[in-house]
Amino acid sequence: MFKLFSKSKSSNPGFEALKTDMHSHLLPGIDDGAQDISTSVQLIKGMKEAGYSKLITTPHIMWDMYQNTRDIILSTLDEMRDVLKEQEVDIDLHAAAEYFLDDYVMGLLKKKEPLLTFGDKMVLSEFSMASPPIDLKEILFEMQMQDYQPVIAHPERYIYLEHNKEFYDELKDAGYLFQLNILSFAGVYGRSVSDLAHHLLKKGYYDFIGTDLHNVRHLKALQDSSVAGQLNKLLTTGKIRNLEL
Ligand SMILES: [Fe+2]
Repeated sequence: MFKLFSKSKSSNPGFEALKTDMHSHLLPGIDDGAQDISTSVQLIKGMKEAGYSKLITTPHIMWDMYQNTRDIILSTLDEMRDVLKEQEVDIDLHAAAEYFLDDYVMGLLKKKEPLLTFGDKMVLSEFSMASPPIDLKEILFEMQMQDYQPVIAHPERYIYLEHNKEFYDELKDAGYLFQLNILSFAGVYGRSVSDLAHHLLKKGYYDFIGTDLHNVRHLKALQDSSVAGQLNKLLTTGKIRNLEL
């Protein structure tokens, strides 16, 4: 299994065992993540110090709030790479997107617009935190029909599924992958989320671990050494696929 915590610094949770993070909001000023270049640099440096060597950052594409396009995201990525080079921050930075599943995404699929993906045509997908969207399965199915592999972002954060856990079984049976927010165990999103994360972990449903890092508060939580024990436990499932990315 993975060798963790070989470093003497107790503040380092050992994220080098994952190598790659595939969920974060690090590009400046285009969503609710880093708001300026200096914050982006601070967050990226912090993730590098935590042990990550590759970051696939995923700005929101959520048409009611963040009207990001493929071009906006990729040009901001280019600018950020230039800044990192200038400041001699050595990290492998890429971008995909976190798609909020709504009519807009269905429209992109219908028009056969290429989605921003990571790994083998994987699409990070989220949906409403307030109630399950009626057309959720239809959109996910359409993605599959176009050879995309949906990855459900932070399924543990949909606390309305607390009393409808079979819904998770249905999503897994349909072939969708699940991504855990590592900070869900750190209490960042509350007790219900942490409980749901434990339930899904016990089921062996998680395929990826992401930070969903938005800000310095999240970075501080990530650097907390207690996250190390949780990460260790997660890796013992033998199912986590971050190293493939
Ligand atoms: Fe996110």
